This record gives sequence, structure tokens and C-alpha cells, in this order.
Amino acid sequence: MAKNKLARFAEMEQLPNVFQPAHQEVFRTDYFLKGRWHSEVFHNDRPIVLEIGCGKGEYAVALGNLYPEKNFIGLDIKGARMWKGATAAAEAGMTNVVFLRMYAEMLESVFAPGEIAEIWITFPDPQMAKARKRLTGTRFLNLYRKILATDAVIHLKTDSPFLYTYTSALIETNHLPVPVATEDLYGCGLNDRVLGIKTFYEKQWLLRGKKIKYICFSPGKDSPLIEPDVEIEKDDYHSETHFMHDAAVHGENG
Ligand SMILES: C[S@@+](CC[C@H](N)C(=O)[O-])C[C@H]1O[C@@H](n2cnc3c(N)ncnc32)[C@H](O)[C@@H]1O
Repeated sequence: MAKNKLARFAEMEQLPNVFQPAHQEVFRTDYFLKGRWHSEVFHNDRPIVLEIGCGKGEYAVALGNLYPEKNFIGLDIKGARMWKGATAAAEAGMTNVVFLRMYAEMLESVFAPGEIAEIWITFPDPQMAKARKRLTGTRFLNLYRKILATDAVIHLKTDSPFLYTYTSALIETNHLPVPVATEDLYGCGLNDRVLGIKTFYEKQWLLRGKKIKYICFSPGKDSPLIEPDVEIEKDDYHSETHFMHDAAVHGENG
């Protein structure tokens, strides 16, 4: 039977690959590891890839296995979900994958300029009502710019036509470089082992017949970012409630 949330939270405290900064350690102050992830955590100078909103950490762990020559950090605010990836990585003895439990809003307190080489965002809530909360909106892109290395890219995988259209419009409005974009990842002929990694949410959306979309883009560096001025049709169905209920019943939510 799945462990309950309290048991997971207790285990998270003991896991050597989990960092859970307290509010006062990141709010308007620098976390002690800012600028020190290479030296103090990974003990090498290899690129650090950040997954934002990692959920159960499937991408971070799978990427860590595929690329032992890179370091990976899975970030999410939900500890009971993250427990799964963190436990799997610890049990497998992975030294290149760690987890960070915090709000992405505080990224600048935790990472130094240029400390992150690449960002993955997999199946974020499209936040159709609140552009400020969208993980690909200008507010977050401005934060990413502060921690990303020059020429870094952001990968977005989503089931949401709304978020795909919004992100594409933002990219176009701001003339951001886009190496790859597809509205139908598994139907477009791209057969890529990295893009084929499937998260918990992705599996749920595939079961419901959703097409998976993917964009790889650069957030740029210098010119001020502006929100796109477009009306976007809302997704007809984007309720997480159905499968999150199932997950809660099986103790997998949190
Ligand atoms: C829809 S889930 C997707 C989880 C996982 N990427 C997957 O595909 O299964 C979105 C995740 O993003 C996290 N999240 C959303 N906004 C966040 C923020 N501002 N800071 C940290 N985590 C956030 C949520 O806690 C949630 O676990």
C-alpha cells in the first residue's frame, strides 16, 4: 500500500538528495547553496539541468540515467509527489539527480546568474485565468533569464492547446529563437528517446486521447519581454480532478 503523506514528508527530511529551504532562507535573501550547486552538491562542474514543476520527478530521474555526464535538479512545491523521484534516485545511488522543494517564484534566491544550463517544464497547469502563474509567461521567463547560461534553452511539453498557443504567441511576439516546435509530438515523426520519457500527467493525458505538444525555445537575454496580445480559446477539458481523485485514492497525490 502506498505510503501516506506524513510518512513521505518524514522520509523527505532524511533523504540526502532533497533540499527543502525554509521560507526565511529564500525570501528576499540568498539560499546558502546559491552559486555553489556545482561545488557543494554535485562536486563537479558539469551542466545543471533544472526541471520546474517536476511532480514525481520522472523526467529528472530518467534524464539523469540517460545523461550521467550532466546534473539534474527536480523542483516542485509538492513534497509528497517529489518523494517518489527522490526515493527512486536515492535507492539507485544516483549522484547526479537531486530534488528541491520550493516555489519557482524564488528561483533567483537559489541559483546564481548562469548556474543553470537548461530548463524542462513538463505538463504544467496552463493557468488559463492567470498569466502571472503560467510557468511560460513573461514573469517566469524573466526569472529564468536571471539564472540561465547564455544560449540555454527551455523545453516545454504540454497537453494543453491553450498553453501551446499562448507560449507560441509569446515566442513570436518577442522574436525568440525556436529550434523545435510540434503540436503532435508522437505523430510528427520525431523519434527521440528524451522526448519519449513520459511523466505521470503525460500518461493520464495520453489515456484521454490528448495530443502531446512540444516546444524548445530560447528565452533570449536582452530585450524586455512582452505578453502576447491575443485571444486564445480556452481548453475544452482541462480538469485534473478525475485522475487526481484516482491518484489521491491510491495515496499518490500531494
Ligand atoms: C500538473 S503537475 C505536472 C507534474 C509533472 N511535471 C508531470 O508531468 O507529471 C504541475 C506541477 O507543477 C508544480 N508547480 C506549479 N507551479 C509551481 C510553482 N510556482 N513552483 C513550484 N512548483 C510548481 C505543482 O506543484 C505540480 O506538481
